Amino acid sequence: MDDYLLMIPGPTVISNPVRKVMGAAQIGHSSEEFQESFIELLNLTKEVFRTKTGSPFILTGSGTVAMEVAVTSLIEQGDRSLVLDTGYFARRFGMILESHGLETDFLNFPFGTHADPSILRKELQRTNYKAVFITHVDTSSTIMNSISELVSEVKSVNALSIVDSVCGIGGCRLEFDKLQADVVIGCSQKALAAPPGAAILMISQEGMKQLETRKTPIPSYYMNLKRWKELMDDPRGYLATPAVQVMLALRESLRMIISEGMDERWERHRRMAEAIRAGIEALGLEFTAEEGYRADTVTGFDVSTGKAASIRSTMKREYNVEVARGFGDLRDNSLRVGHCGNISKMEVSAFLSALELTLSEFGSKVRKGAALEAAVPFITPDLR
Ligand SMILES: Cc1ncc(COP(=O)(O)O)c(C=O)c1O
Repeated sequence: MDDYLLMIPGPTVISNPVRKVMGAAQIGHSSEEFQESFIELLNLTKEVFRTKTGSPFILTGSGTVAMEVAVTSLIEQGDRSLVLDTGYFARRFGMILESHGLETDFLNFPFGTHADPSILRKELQRTNYKAVFITHVDTSSTIMNSISELVSEVKSVNALSIVDSVCGIGGCRLEFDKLQADVVIGCSQKALAAPPGAAILMISQEGMKQLETRKTPIPSYYMNLKRWKELMDDPRGYLATPAVQVMLALRESLRMIISEGMDERWERHRRMAEAIRAGIEALGLEFTAEEGYRADTVTGFDVSTGKAASIRSTMKREYNVEVARGFGDLRDNSLRVGHCGNISKMEVSAFLSALELTLSEFGSKVRKGAALEAAVPFITPDLR
C-alpha cells in the first residue's frame, strides 16, 4: 500500500479526481480559464455554506489567515471582543486579537465542555462587546458547540458573531442564512476534502456594512477584506498570486460535495461519528468531549496513561492508520481521530479494527471484534 489511511483531523484523504487536478499542467492565474474557475468556486462555496445573502472570500492561506483577516478587517482599536474559550483554537482567536493590541476578554469553559449559551447571555448583559468569537468544532477538545444558540445570544445584543468552522464546514450542519452569523470561517483541508492552502470567509450583509463603515483604515495590506472585496467581485483583477492548483482542487472537491448533497453529507458525517463513538465506547475508553456535544468530524478519547505516542505509532506502523495525539495536558494520554471529508464506512471500520488490535497488543482485555460489532448498526449498506 503506497498511501496510509490519514485519519488526523485535517488534512484528510484527498479523492482521486482532486489529486488529478493538483497534478495537472500549470495554468496562469490571470488566464480566462482560471478566472472562470474561480467564479464557479465562489458560487459553489455559497452553496456549501447554504447562503444566498453571504459574501464569500477565498484567499490563499491556511485557516489561521482567515481568522486573522476577520480580526484585522472587522475589529478596530477601542473595540472590545469576547472569546468563548472552549479549547486551543478558540484561544488562538484571542492570541490574534491580542497580537493586534485589541481589547479581549475570555469566557472560559472547562476543556471538553461546550460554551453554555446561558453563561454567555449573563456575560453579554454585564459588558458591551463589539464582537463575540465562537468556535464551532474545537479540534483540540473535539467539542461541537451549539452555534445557533450562541449566535442568537450574540445577535440579541447587536454584537458581531464571528464563527470559526474550520473543523465543521462541509461535515457538520451549518446553514449560513439560517444561522445569521456575521462571519463564518473555513478552510480547504478538513471536511471540504481538498489540500491545505485556501482560507475561506463568508460574511453577512451586516458584516459587509461594518467593513464598509469602519472608522479607521485596515492596518494590513494582505489581511484586508476591503482590498479582497474588489477581487471577489471581479476575479479578473490582481492582488497577489493565488495558489492556483489549490483553488482548482477545492473547486473539484466542492463540485463533488454538492453532487453528494449537503443534507446527505451532514447525515453521513453524523452516522460515521456515531459509529466511531460506539466502537470506542465498546473498547471501554473515555471521550475527551462531554456527551451531547461530541463533534461529527473529530473524536478525542483517552488511552492508557503515557502510552498515546506508542499506540499512535503502532497503529501507523502495523495497520497503516494515522491518527493524531491529544492536545496540551492530554497529549500523552489521549488520541484524536478525524472522520471527515472522504472518510466513510470503509475507513471507519479500518480505524476501529486497527485501534482494537493495537490496544490488545498493549494489554487491553476487550473481546476481539467488540468495536466493529458496536459500530455496525451505524454503518449499514446505505451509508456511502
Ligand atoms: C478549529 C480550528 N480553527 C483554526 C485552525 C487553524 O487552521 P490552519 O492550521 O489551517 O491555520 C484549525 C487547525 O486545525 C482548527 O482546527
